[in-house]
Amino acid sequence: MRAPSIVDLYRPQAASRLDEAAAGLLAVPATVSPKFFYDALGSRLFDAITELDEYYPTRTEAAILARHGDALAAAVQASIGTGCPLVDLGAGNCAKAERLFPLLKPGRYLALDISADFLGESLRALQWRHPSLDITGVGLDFSARLALPPGLLRGPALLFYPGSSIGNFDPPSALRLLREARELAAGGGLLIGVDLVKPVAVLERAYDDELGVTAAFNLNVLRHLNRLLGSDFLPSQWRHVAFFNAERSCIEMHLEARQNLVVRWRGAERSFAGGERIHTEDSRKWQLAGFRSLLQQAGFGRMRVWEDDARWFAVLLATER
Ligand code: AVJ
Repeated sequence: MRAPSIVDLYRPQAASRLDEAAAGLLAVPATVSPKFFYDALGSRLFDAITELDEYYPTRTEAAILARHGDALAAAVQASIGTGCPLVDLGAGNCAKAERLFPLLKPGRYLALDISADFLGESLRALQWRHPSLDITGVGLDFSARLALPPGLLRGPALLFYPGSSIGNFDPPSALRLLREARELAAGGGLLIGVDLVKPVAVLERAYDDELGVTAAFNLNVLRHLNRLLGSDFLPSQWRHVAFFNAERSCIEMHLEARQNLVVRWRGAERSFAGGERIHTEDSRKWQLAGFRSLLQQAGFGRMRVWEDDARWFAVLLATER
């Protein structure tokens, strides 16, 4: 049996990551990039979120892919051909990509994720189920720039960016990422999931669930920062806050201080007044037309779209022509 090869291009940048986290904590208002959610526990908590009744995106996207799998496979075959490499952006547990294997029959699976440890575990299990597939894992933070070292990928590829993770980016950064995706696909295509605007109550429930799993996911960022920075955050002093900001068309997640407090790390400190917040995530909800025009601006001249009946979520296949 083959073994997956894993390259971690993320861990070596530890120093710049510390600076980035510290700068965010010192900013007013304080911010932490959502990429810091995904240590090994954070990746598991996100998996748990996807099982919640309130969290519709994962299962809605899966239903779209299951229902339109044949049409998708035909479209990929027609415009890219089968057997080209499948590149998974933010692979996590790799479950979504694995469901595409029988449809797309990729010759190679290249999985990118910020959490190389979690990715390595997922890929070893995946290789066991697909003994002859050529599997490569890359620990990479593509939020700043999506590009691979030369030699890792040659020729046209199908990039897969499911789950509406593109929602974490503001429109200019999303446009930059889509352009980089088009370049990396090298004449292939991009299969992307996008969460759409829908009634506010549905949106807000999805990010503030009854069991408190999303609250734990949000608060876990403090544990991750403590390990990364050596800070002394006490999660019990913070509250999970999530709401839809209609003007920005974003679910905003924040951590709100329950009392006045001071956080210290490596010779630095930041005091927070009770009620003061750390902004941890934007999850943007797109209108389909707006997202299509973004793809077009990124240089994708052809798109096919599949949606669920309620039009809560869209899966798009974008190619240059
Ligand atoms: C992984 C960015 C798609 O925005 O819905 C889930 C992350 N945050 N619950 C999302 C998330 C809170 C998720 N993405």
